Amino acid sequence: MTRVKEEVSIIIFGASGDLNKRKLMPALSELFKAKAFTTHFNIIGYSRTDFSDENFIEHLKKIAPYKDIEADFFTHVSYISGSYDSLEDFKKLAHHLKDKPQNRLFYMAVPPEQVMPICENLYASDLCTKEKKNHFERIIFEKPFGTNYESAKELNRKLLQFFNEDQIYRIDHYLGKETVQNLMAFRFANIIFEPLWNRSYVDYIDINVSEELGIVGRGEYFDHTGITRDVIQNHALQLLAMIAMEAPANLNATAIRNEKVKLLSSIPAPVAALRGQYEGYLGEQGVKAHSQTETFSALKLSIDNWRWADTPIYIRAGKALMEKSTEVSVFFKRVPHKLFKSVNIDAIEPNVLVFKIQPKEGIHLYFQSKNLGTGFKLSPVDMDFSYHNEFTSRISDAYERLLLDALLGDASLFIRGDEVEASWKIVDPVLKTWEENSDIPLYAYKKGQLGPDEMFDFIRRDGHAWNQNICRLKL
Ligand code: BG6
Repeated sequence: MTRVKEEVSIIIFGASGDLNKRKLMPALSELFKAKAFTTHFNIIGYSRTDFSDENFIEHLKKIAPYKDIEADFFTHVSYISGSYDSLEDFKKLAHHLKDKPQNRLFYMAVPPEQVMPICENLYASDLCTKEKKNHFERIIFEKPFGTNYESAKELNRKLLQFFNEDQIYRIDHYLGKETVQNLMAFRFANIIFEPLWNRSYVDYIDINVSEELGIVGRGEYFDHTGITRDVIQNHALQLLAMIAMEAPANLNATAIRNEKVKLLSSIPAPVAALRGQYEGYLGEQGVKAHSQTETFSALKLSIDNWRWADTPIYIRAGKALMEKSTEVSVFFKRVPHKLFKSVNIDAIEPNVLVFKIQPKEGIHLYFQSKNLGTGFKLSPVDMDFSYHNEFTSRISDAYERLLLDALLGDASLFIRGDEVEASWKIVDPVLKTWEENSDIPLYAYKKGQLGPDEMFDFIRRDGHAWNQNICRLKL
């Protein structure tokens, strides 16, 4: 593993919250275990809850097991309680940081309304500013980054008053997933698919981010957000960018992000959209009585560029569905010639390449094979690669990779300001139409289904099918 050579202080705002307990601290402890840090590193938790260092550590241990590294790791952890809008409290934090490593990584694990007060105070207390210094000062921003194009643009503008773009790390944890990074390796380290990777051979692409869980305890946040903002604007569009962008000139952050922005900027307003809500959602805690918030969303997109013109992209995401599954399926066109006369050409299923992002991480290629015996009876078979069969080491959590990259100053797996704006521009027209037209159907679906029944017609009317119809039993 690449090591962080500098001494560092990692300051987490929102330290008493869920994200820190479940994801950030366990990820940092794994990095510690893998010896990613020098002996001079410090983690400082900051939030409003009144904890002593010991109480804070006890609180963390209740959630995640830290096994063998416990005592060692926690000697690097301390806690400061303070409010986010008090300069006095930030001075207290500055005092605490005085004899600690000056290279600083701040993490905003706080609700959006706390972000600007924190930035202002970081600047005013000289803890993180755009002025050049002999050490680094960086900030990781959690999503949601704005609620639409205008607010994201405004947020970018405000942040740039205090910090430089290269200090701002907008996180999308999907980019930290091994399987998502492997989309690039698959496309650009292999030659066999690239000639087919275009409108001449690809019929359509289906991106599916489905979750079995409902909104579990996040009613208030989710009801203001909806699945399109929560998952499609960021995670699903990042998957699309990775699968459809051109090869970057190299692997640095500028080159990769230039390609993603170019791709996202070639996507006009969705061609069609469908929304749904699971039965029982209105009874969830924190949800408004007559909420029209969508818990399922399907979009049909087009990409207006040379490579992808007229190739439909279908994206769907939902809560309380049949299973947790994220996959990207590339459907190739059907064979042009009816050689196997006994078989109806339309019955010959197309080649499908499925990237299983999670769970059962892997890549499957479905192709036609002759059945055993006389004649030419055909069936699709699966040529598969599975991470679990191929690799013995565990797949590290996305946050481990992203925290390490931010400490190393590698922003290639983070979202640039213009990129987040380009993503909002894609979903904004649909969100606006839904918000302004309450008569647009919000289809109901039962928990545990694939989504509302109407989702099948959404794609069937183009002569296509969601990948579950074709290969779900085999995945
Ligand atoms: C988060 C969303 O960004 O991603 C959640 O806010 C969602 O609603 C989660 O459940 C899904 O992440 P993963 O890694 O479990 O697919």
